[in-house]
Amino acid sequence: MKLLLKAVTIASAIVATPALADNWTLDSDSSHLAYGTIKKNTVGEVNGFTNLSGHVTPDGKAEIDIDLSSVETNIDIRNERMIEFVFRKVGSAKLTADFDMSEVSGLSVGETTTIDAESVLSLAGTDVTFDAELFVARLSDTAVMVSTNDMVFLNAEDAGINAGVDTLKELADLSGITRTVPITARLIFHSDGKQAAATPASATPEIVAAAVQGDAKAGKKVFRKCSACHKLDQGRNGVGPSLHAIIGKSAGQAEGFRFSSALQDIDVVWTQENLAAFLADPKGFLPGNRMQFPGLKKEDDIVNLLAYLQDAS
Ligand code: HEC
Repeated sequence: MKLLLKAVTIASAIVATPALADNWTLDSDSSHLAYGTIKKNTVGEVNGFTNLSGHVTPDGKAEIDIDLSSVETNIDIRNERMIEFVFRKVGSAKLTADFDMSEVSGLSVGETTTIDAESVLSLAGTDVTFDAELFVARLSDTAVMVSTNDMVFLNAEDAGINAGVDTLKELADLSGITRTVPITARLIFHSDGKQAAATPASATPEIVAAAVQGDAKAGKKVFRKCSACHKLDQGRNGVGPSLHAIIGKSAGQAEGFRFSSALQDIDVVWTQENLAAFLADPKGFLPGNRMQFPGLKKEDDIVNLLAYLQDAS
């Protein structure tokens, strides 16, 4: 049970880690928080919590909620007893952490690092402060994994659940339940990508102004780079979605096309400005999108292409 508390703490620390200026949300399904117990000095078991939620705010404050009633010990009656006698007074546990984002923000995809995270676990009004060493891996532009780097031990006494463990021991007629619990955590966070959309990397006012004077004929030639995947006809999707009347449309709306979640979730209108930024650097503008195109390096090309797209609609 103490483990739970510690685990919570770890989770919060972890959450803090992935803050990279975007909004990061915990992926509950692929995250895992577990603790170990040893019964009667011989029987080792792993328990966990199935219901975690959390996020890291853009200013680097991490918050993780652990639903203590989601404890899974693999024995129903024990789950009930754990909830009734150990976690009942606690309700839910919250972990918050402030951390130095600069240690994580420089990580490129595939890179890993270890960081020290200072965390506070709040349980039923009691704050437990602790340090945890975390292993951080950048899985993709929009995913970060944080796990405990070493075994973390939680003490039931610190966590204020000693009395509950005593009761459990009597009920289960056990000669002993460990009071210090090892905890492990694996937390996966996804960025919503909205930050990238809100601050287009390279939509300079010059490009936007110039687009008005762009050469649509020259733009038609530039569109050859797109036409393998995109048609301008309404409803005609190929490898990429139809770009019919794309200027002024909301992103990810083309009917009948299966967009990546990155494009589906982004809240952006394809103004000339946003299109210019996207086409200059598709992956930078919208991390996690599935368009296999490196971007247009020449500003002239972008300006002319926008004029063509405007004309063609
Ligand atoms: C190799 C194929 C490919 C090429 C080349 C390509 N695209 Fe795409 N494009 C895609 C795919 C696939 C998507 C959908 C991506 C997703 O769902 O994440 C997409 C999405 C888009 C979108 C978003 C559409 C919407 O409805 O939100 C725009 C705009 C776009 N592409 C414009 C272009 C332009 C302009 C070019 C040429 C300069 C280009 N693309 C080149 C495959 C391609």
